[in-house]
Amino acid sequence: MRWLLCVAVAVFTLQGAQAVAVGEKYKDSGKCKACHSHIVKEWESSWHAASHYANDEYFRKTIDYVARKQSGKSLNSIKIECAACHNPRISVTSTNAEYEALASLNLDRNTDAACATQSDTIAEGINCVVCHNIDRIHDTLPDTKRGVHRVGWMKSGTMSGPYSDAKSPYHRVEHRDFMDRNPDRLCFVCHANDTSEEGHRFTDMESEYKKGDKFCVDCHMGPRKEGVAATLRDAQGKPHKRQIRSHGFIGAHTETMWKDALAVSLKRASGGLEVTLNNPNPHPLPGGFGAREILIEVAYFRKGTGMGTQTRSLTSRFLNKRGKPTVPHLAAKTLENVSVPAYGSKSFTFGILKGADQVAVSVSYRLVNEEVRKMLGLKDPIWSRKAVIQKKVLKL
Ligand code: HEC
Ligand code: HEC
Ligand code: HEC
Ligand code: HEC
Ligand code: HEC
Repeated sequence: MRWLLCVAVAVFTLQGAQAVAVGEKYKDSGKCKACHSHIVKEWESSWHAASHYANDEYFRKTIDYVARKQSGKSLNSIKIECAACHNPRISVTSTNAEYEALASLNLDRNTDAACATQSDTIAEGINCVVCHNIDRIHDTLPDTKRGVHRVGWMKSGTMSGPYSDAKSPYHRVEHRDFMDRNPDRLCFVCHANDTSEEGHRFTDMESEYKKGDKFCVDCHMGPRKEGVAATLRDAQGKPHKRQIRSHGFIGAHTETMWKDALAVSLKRASGGLEVTLNNPNPHPLPGGFGAREILIEVAYFRKGTGMGTQTRSLTSRFLNKRGKPTVPHLAAKTLENVSVPAYGSKSFTFGILKGADQVAVSVSYRLVNEEVRKMLGLKDPIWSRKAVIQKKVLKL
């Protein structure tokens, strides 16, 4: 019965950033399939499609953990905070003390805020009508205003896109520069910086970004290729040929993307074995989101027989305001930032085992470091799976 009561959620009663209701005809990707099925399919495999509370174990358990540890804030308030970037079509964009009072007494069930977090409008996470309904990006706002707080929406039923001459019988279209000549602006709406509940900035991709000759989309949506934007046939009986990109948004969750993402070189130096990681990309790695990890594993051999291994983990560790280890979203401090900077390199020295005549070095990536995995009790094997970046061998 709960959803029936929730239908009453009016978009006029919202607080915070301006929310605009999405009409039934456009609200989920299923509505776009008739003409854009190839794009819908690609997007479904992306992690933008998994950004809702129900679909990403790491996200869900972080929210639950923050709500448990952060006194004075309810689960729904945290969900609404995180929704700014993870579910920006949410109809309520902030909560107040009055709401917290109701929530603490369990009397919030039928409030706009509680209904907004359960609405099926946001079930798909970052879907088509997130990116393609953005009208304006407010670049002059303070850099802490992100996601829904940084954009103005189109009227429901108008799609912003890269073409200035597109026509569709299903929706209106409008060309936008951030879909075409300057797409980094769109990505930076969310992939810029993020701040913990303690006000600590634990990720700062926008300021660490070193713009080269490529846009984010060149690497994460692939190059423009000939194809069709819509499969609908025109008056001549043919779909319109276009230059298009992939909507797979491949990234850290895609093992093949990690192959050769860093260049590894080995050298015998005075202090031992020197392993150098070179980052040819315009942003640090690991980077972006908090507790990612790069592992360097060094195996020593003598006449082909293994003698032992040494492992070094490159990851950021986070401390809460009492100095105890915590998750990025509750951090008061980052203990150490070990990521390899954009277009930069870092070297690490390993003491060589006595008698070894060969080393084999494997550099790999994990989505979540062991500390945070244990803290949150993450179960899905993807969080601990190692994606190989490069393997190298050196005779000593
Ligand atoms: C400023 C926009 C923004 C806000 C607000 C935000 N996030 Fe994120 N979050 C991102 C982006 C962008 C990524 C992907 C970055 C990456 O993978 O490096 C991400 C990724 C994550 C991930 C990793 C997911 C995975 O599958 O690996 C977790 C966990 C997460 N966020 C938790 C939260 C929580 C909890 C909150 C609220 C307390 C929150 N985020 C608020 C932008 C945001
Ligand atoms: C994270 C943002 C984002 C999401 C989510 C997204 N798109 Fe796009 N879309 C883009 C960008 C950026 C372009 C421009 C790509 C280019 O340079 O051609 C684009 C281009 C397009 C085009 C024009 C063809 C092309 O490749 O240029 C169509 C049609 C389209 N998107 C439909 C969809 C549909 C349908 C969905 C949902 C299944 C969707 N998009 C989800 C960002 C997004
Ligand atoms: C009945 C067919 C049909 C449906 C359904 C449909 N579209 Fe389209 N769409 C088109 C056509 C046709 C074009 C123009 C293609 C071209 O000119 O190459 C288009 C173009 C677009 C563009 C590019 C606009 C531009 O100016 O660059 C976007 C973005 C888009 N659609 C998004 C969506 C989304 C999101 C949905 C689902 C909510 C959707 N479409 C549903 C037919 C459709
Ligand atoms: C509305 C906010 C928002 C916008 C706009 C946005 N993203 Fe994201 N993106 C996210 C969030 C949140 C995640 C993490 C989702 C998760 O892991 O659950 C993410 C994840 C990703 C990932 C990581 C996938 C992985 O496997 O780790 C890539 C790559 C990515 N986005 C690229 C882009 C690009 C390129 C653009 C610009 C065209 C863009 N995003 C625009 C919020 C956004
Ligand atoms: C020259 C290619 C290139 C460009 C341009 C680029 N990236 Fe990446 N990015 C990579 C590679 C390679 C990786 C590592 C493998 C992976 O995660 O896909 C990566 C990783 C990421 C990750 C995951 C980081 C981590 O350590 O977990 C995010 C998020 C991301 N990129 C977002 C962006 C955004 C946003 C932009 C634009 C501001 C951008 N990228 C521009 C190549 C690029």
